[in-house]
Amino acid sequence: MPFLSGMQGAYEAPPILWERVRTHAAAYTGNTPYLLCDLAVISRKLERFRAALPRVAPYYAMKANPDLRVLRHLAAKGVNFEVASIHELDQLQRVGVDPAGVIFSNPIKPRAAIAEAFKRGVTTMAVDDLDEIEKIGTVSRDIRFYLRLETSNTGSDWPLTGKFGASTAEALEIIEYCARHRLGLTGLTFHVGSQCRNLDNWHTGIEGARLIFARMEAAGITPTLLNLGGGFPIQHTRPMPTIEEIGRTVDRALGTLPDKVRVIAEPGRYLAGDSCWMVTRVVGTATRKGRRWIYLDVGAFTGLTETLEHFDYEVFTDRTGPLAPMTVAGPSCDTADVLFQEKMLPQDLQAGDLAYIPNAGAYTICYASTFNGFPLPEMVMLEG
Ligand SMILES: Cc1ncc(COP(=O)(O)O)c(C=O)c1O
Repeated sequence: MPFLSGMQGAYEAPPILWERVRTHAAAYTGNTPYLLCDLAVISRKLERFRAALPRVAPYYAMKANPDLRVLRHLAAKGVNFEVASIHELDQLQRVGVDPAGVIFSNPIKPRAAIAEAFKRGVTTMAVDDLDEIEKIGTVSRDIRFYLRLETSNTGSDWPLTGKFGASTAEALEIIEYCARHRLGLTGLTFHVGSQCRNLDNWHTGIEGARLIFARMEAAGITPTLLNLGGGFPIQHTRPMPTIEEIGRTVDRALGTLPDKVRVIAEPGRYLAGDSCWMVTRVVGTATRKGRRWIYLDVGAFTGLTETLEHFDYEVFTDRTGPLAPMTVAGPSCDTADVLFQEKMLPQDLQAGDLAYIPNAGAYTICYASTFNGFPLPEMVMLEG
């Protein structure tokens, strides 16, 4: 039985079967590291999302995995999209997505990007500050926008607070300004933090939106959109709420909102995260001050970037020897390129061995660089 480090077992959707990954890697003639993707996992996750959150239309946050094959797959299933840049919009248009169904959720955008997106048909965008609203106003008064509110990110593995999000006081000022100038404020959004483990964050976010909606109504603005953002987690190395648990919490909270409010969300990691395994090879081993080090050909700069903020991954190998705590590092010369401390791995792991890292479908290749001359991992589709 091959070794599974820290395996929790409770996957949301059956991931690509471990044996299929090994079989693929054994026959694969390309280079490591590579990302092995199963689009069928994305289909199952989408079905599950829709069943658990029937009132919520998914707009895939393509920043999680912008591979054209993933985009085409989701577009064919009627999913809409969220973009952060014109380049993302270009990619969507390459696979035939109509910009009219796309939202632009980056709260701070270059004026040229606002104008270009609007020219192509994107009419709905995020804001979180009066400066941005004024900027949008210089492009067109026909652009609709939803206001991003700050909300609790407590218990999220990848918090997103601080950089974006209006406080309640700022939101009230924005509402008053939009009402006075008859600008296109139509709704609200928030982000509970990526890989959110805390159900309360959705409740708090929706309750906060309900209170701000009431202030919009009082100012004469009719709210028609609530965007729940992303944050829906995959089953990973720590216990996570399931999408059904999140669905029940969201549904209860949405019950307090007027029916005229259309509800959407921007799942990224949830749809793409567990569709891929990173297949990598041990390039070397070392013993430093009595501790064992393993160097992989994938690192923090070549795909496992989230490890820089201590995002954990499981590591599977084919070895069955006794386990020992190891420091696992990437291939570059940068000392920041250390992936895991105290990872329990087989002591007989050697240079040339394969290692397999699940849940690598989101925020990996698209986050990577060719720093130190290491090429980006290729994304390979699992057939059949
Ligand atoms: C505006 C916005 N929406 C959606 C997402 C996707 O979040 P997740 O991958 O946690 O679903 C992000 C992630 O950074 C984001 O910034």
